[in-house]
Amino acid sequence: MQTVRFQTRMDAVQAPIVPVIGGIIREVPGTISLGQGVVHYGPPQPAIDAVRDALSDASTHEYQDGAGLPALVEQLAIKLRAENGIDVSRGSRIMVTAGANMAFMHAVLAITAPGDEIILNVPFYFNHEMAIQMADCTAVRVATDAHYQPRLDALGAAITDRTRAIVTVTPNNPSGAVFSEASLRAINTLCRERGLYHIADEVYEYFTYGSARHVSSGSFPGAAAHTIAIYSLSKAYGFAGWRIGYMTYPEHLAAPMAKVQDTILVCPTVVSQVAAIAALEAGRAYCEPHVRELASIRDIVCAELSQLAPRVSVPAADGAFYVLLKVETARDPMAIAERLIREHKVAVIPGPAFGMTDGCYFRVAYGALQKETVAEGIGRLVNGLRAII
Ligand SMILES: Cc1ncc(COP(=O)(O)O)c(C=O)c1O
Repeated sequence: MQTVRFQTRMDAVQAPIVPVIGGIIREVPGTISLGQGVVHYGPPQPAIDAVRDALSDASTHEYQDGAGLPALVEQLAIKLRAENGIDVSRGSRIMVTAGANMAFMHAVLAITAPGDEIILNVPFYFNHEMAIQMADCTAVRVATDAHYQPRLDALGAAITDRTRAIVTVTPNNPSGAVFSEASLRAINTLCRERGLYHIADEVYEYFTYGSARHVSSGSFPGAAAHTIAIYSLSKAYGFAGWRIGYMTYPEHLAAPMAKVQDTILVCPTVVSQVAAIAALEAGRAYCEPHVRELASIRDIVCAELSQLAPRVSVPAADGAFYVLLKVETARDPMAIAERLIREHKVAVIPGPAFGMTDGCYFRVAYGALQKETVAEGIGRLVNGLRAII
């Protein structure tokens, strides 16, 4: 039988980079991965115990409320008010999704028509660009400054009649930058004044180091009517496989959001929500020792990489668990990334996946490493880059 091939919207979407790099890693056993953005710890024990108990409850196996289990939504409302300064009783709603990626896709589908534009600060999180393209919209790339901080003038200049939203990711994947409160306020105001949504991805909210502090864009006065704030349990609670994220969104989007959720997910996985309730009871305190450990791992990463100056520069990264290196070379970053795996057994993600096409950049993820492995992994990276560039 002849294979039928259609052109589809997926033709324009980049291949997911983590599995591409993962495929090469599998060919080179013993590779230390500084590739995927995951943490090395799992969920709090009460979350696992709660799941065990829920398995004998018939309601675990049935469809439940689309927006999320009422007990979870209520708990999230308390967390949002206490930690993020977002009062959902004032014009916004909560929706639980199968991870923050799904919340972003839902948001894009809910606020756009085909051909619309959404502005991304570059470097961006690759799945954001992919989601925008899948919705038949255009991701408009706007460069950040040398410290990976947003440039308000450039964002303003990129707005057209088709623009529907500006996206911020802070603490940032892939750069680790924490955006300043002033800059987030200015972006949120710009969006309000120009009739745009501000989509604020805050999945790394707990991961800040030194004096850096995360500020939630949804907490600014007047933000509720145009701000979609996205969160996740994946990182903070070692919950990536349970697929629980959530968002707050303006009340006027309730009907489109409900259509998207009903079609794509119906309701979030009930057993995962039961686990999420118990994880949130453990709360931020569960995550804090891990963040402190990551802070010392980050110190090792930055100290080791500084040996490569001036051929490699690493702008300050006060959050998440990434640094984005700039390497002074005209070589192809994908080719270098492949050589690093094959010849030096260490994996990083090349910059083009994050929109960094002007120059040679690599994202280093250190969240999945224990202290013992991080020194070895970074040592391999430093030696590998020295040998290759
Ligand atoms: C900025 C950002 N947003 C969203 C996600 C996806 O999170 P989730 O596992 O909740 O879908 C990630 C995961 O790496 C991320 O880095």
